[in-house]
This record gives sequence, C-alpha cells and structure tokens, in this order.
Amino acid sequence: MVLINDVYAKDKQELFTNRVKELAMIESVIESFVEKGVRRHLAFLGLRRIGKSLILFEYIKRNKKEVIIVYVDLKKTSMEPQFFALEYIKKILQWTLNEKEEELLVLVNKLKNEDIFDQLNKFLRDVKERNNFNLINFAFSFPELLSKHLDKKIVVCIDEFQEILGANKYGGIDNIVDIFRSALQSQSNTLYFITGSIITTMEKICLEDKSALFLHLDKVISLYNFTKEDSFQLINKIFKREGVKAPNENILLEIFKVSRGHVFYLTIVCEKIIELTKLFDFGIDDNLIKRAFLIELTNKNARLYNYFNYIFENSLEKARGKTSLKSILLKIANRERASNVELCFDLNKRAGEIQTLLKRLMETDLIIKEGRYYLYRDGLLRKWVRTFFLGIDIDNKTPSKNTEELFSQLEEKYLRV
Ligand SMILES: Nc1ncnc2c1ncn2[C@@H]1O[C@H](COP(=O)(O)OP(=O)(O)O)[C@@H](O)[C@H]1O
Ligand SMILES: [Mg+2]
Repeated sequence: MVLINDVYAKDKQELFTNRVKELAMIESVIESFVEKGVRRHLAFLGLRRIGKSLILFEYIKRNKKEVIIVYVDLKKTSMEPQFFALEYIKKILQWTLNEKEEELLVLVNKLKNEDIFDQLNKFLRDVKERNNFNLINFAFSFPELLSKHLDKKIVVCIDEFQEILGANKYGGIDNIVDIFRSALQSQSNTLYFITGSIITTMEKICLEDKSALFLHLDKVISLYNFTKEDSFQLINKIFKREGVKAPNENILLEIFKVSRGHVFYLTIVCEKIIELTKLFDFGIDDNLIKRAFLIELTNKNARLYNYFNYIFENSLEKARGKTSLKSILLKIANRERASNVELCFDLNKRAGEIQTLLKRLMETDLIIKEGRYYLYRDGLLRKWVRTFFLGIDIDNKTPSKNTEELFSQLEEKYLRV
C-alpha cells in the first residue's frame, strides 16, 4: 500500500463518496480478466477534476484480487520518447514491486530475472542511440513481458491518455496511438484502463472509426457531476471533517446548486464556506453561500478563480487565432448558447470564417455543439467568463441591502487576512 498512499492522500481517501457503478464495473472487468482471461479495456472520460483519477485510486486501494495494478499519469510525464519510455517502464516496475525506488537498474535487479535484465540493458543501449520507435515499442511491450515472467496478470491504468499524442512530434513516431494499439492487440496478460479530460480529443481517439483504438476499447464510460443525494453526502463529510455542524437541507441544496454537483467545485465552495464561518463566526445561510461562491469565482487569490483562469488561457494558448477565438467565447458566454448566424451578426464576420473558428474552439474542448447551437461544455466556466470579462453578476437576485453591507465589510476584512 505504500505507493497508493503516495498518489492518493489520506484526507481524499476519507472523503471519497459514491462512484458505486464505476467501481462495480471495474471489479467485474477485473474479475473476468483474472479468472477467465477475458480482456475488456475501459476508458473513462469526463471534465477535468470530475473524479476520474480518484476512481482508479479507490479501486487500487480496495483491490484484493491476485493482479498487479500499475498507475501512470501522463500529465506528469514528458512525452519525449526516451523519457516517456524510461518513465513508463519504471512505473510498471515500481507498482509491481511496490517500491518507491527511482533507479531502473536497482528495480530490475530485484526481479532476479536474467532475461528481463538483458532486455532492459538492450533497451538502455537504444536509449543512447535514440531509436524512438524501438524505445516506445519496448515500453508498451514491457508489462506483458513482466507478466509472463511473474505469471501474474497486469492492469495498466494510463491517466490523461490524450497527452500521449505529444510524442507524435518526435522523429520516428508517426502515430503513437497506433504503436500502443499494436502492443495491446498482441498481448493477452495485460489489461488497460485509460482516462481522458480533453473530451473532444479522447472521443476522437476512442470512438472514431478511423482511429486506431476504435474497436479495441470495450467500454467508454462518461463521468458526470454528482447527483443531489451524492453531493449531500459529500458536503456532510466535508463539514464533519472540519468539525462544523452539518448544514440543513436548504443549505445543502444551495451548495449543490452553485457547484452543480461537480465534485471539485463543490469541495472548494464548501471549504470556503467553512473558512468564512470560522473566521467571522457567521451562521450559514443562502447569502453566505452565494458570497463564498462569488469570492471563489472573482477573488484573484481564490482557487476556483485561478483554476478557471488557467483552463481558459491554457486551452486558448494551444489554438491558433487566440484573439478571434476569445471574442467568440465571450459572445457565447453572453448569450449562453449561440448559433453560427448569431455569431456572424454579433462579430460582423462571414459564416465560413466563424465556422473555422468554431471548429478550432471545439478542439480546445471549451465549447460543444448541440443542434445548431454552440455552448460551453462547463457551465461554471461560462459563469467565470461572464464575471471576469463581461462584469456580469453571477446572480441577478441581489441580496438585501443590509446583508450586502455586511458582506462588503466581510470582504474587506477577508482581503486583509
Ligand atoms: N468520488 C469522490 N468523492 C469525493 N471527492 C472527490 C471524488 N472524486 C473527486 N473528488 C474531489 O475532486 C478532486 C478532483 O478529482 P480527480 O479524480 O483528481 O479528477 P480528474 O482525475 O477527473 O481530473 C479530488 O482531488 C477530490 O477533492
Ligand atoms: Mg486526474
């Protein structure tokens, strides 16, 4: 259990809520893999911070089956082929041996297997020669090699799989997904669970028939926000952890509404509410919740503000024509959803030009298309754009004047803290 506690902090473990269906699905897939050798590879797709990694962690923590589970986070790995290959093999060995050891040769020595030792030495020579294709190919074939030697099945969890595409820009690698697919197809002792946050890219990788992975993934599971009941459970746990009395049903509902049941947003809003009640000794009511949410959305030091700022800028950074894309995003934030015709009218541009820009925006994953309308994939990000760029208040029902004054004093105090 050493390694799992490293990636899955104790306080997160205590708060873990729900995901019953997903965990049961993993359990049944692993069961038929271990007992009957049936491989059903899974993909989990969903917005950033919706709880994909935690599902994997929670399963790894609970697992009692005779199977090795490896966890690799591509967000934390360089995709330059030599680094990636080394890191991938290292992670497989670390999770197999349940050791934090960083030295590849020390790790492989512990296996006491001459054949694997020789093959790894050959691999390290390839690293010097920088034969990118061979390096990646060997890395992807490594779990199967190890599994045969240990006579134990292996599950490889690859988190943030879309990052893998970063390898395609290096010499010798035309299409890394294709190399991965060949490895997967030739194996029988290795099962894969992959996750992805950039949903548009992942859907292309997983679902489109011209993609190499199509047909090889047995189930693509979309993760959504928590329901009201699950949100209530999580909110209660967070309050309990902080030693604050559980809120009443109205308050629970209000927190659910502002966060829309997105686990990460919900956690942050709860923590801010608790911080405010502790700092100023306030009772919790609707206004406090609205204010906590507003602070999170607009305060330059707040976590939610910084998170949205990062997502917005980072998504646009990668796309061409940032300024034009931004104008469209602001218009869509303003209208809630907009058709091509409306955007032509708003921005005084031709339909073809708007179409090209919208296509690029969908590739950033910020925008999706429903019927003839374009809208934000994440409704709260839209709210952030509205408050940040357009100065539109998050709620048109303004609190009564007294509480407004109280809160402005509170905010002044808060900003001085
Ligand atoms: N099932 C859950 N129960 C409680 N909190 C959760 C759950 N899933 C996610 N969270 C909270 O949301 C945060 C983001 O989850 P994470 O799994 O890292 O998202 P993703 O991998 O989808 O980006 C976690 O750090 C945790 O605070
Ligand atoms: Mg994650």
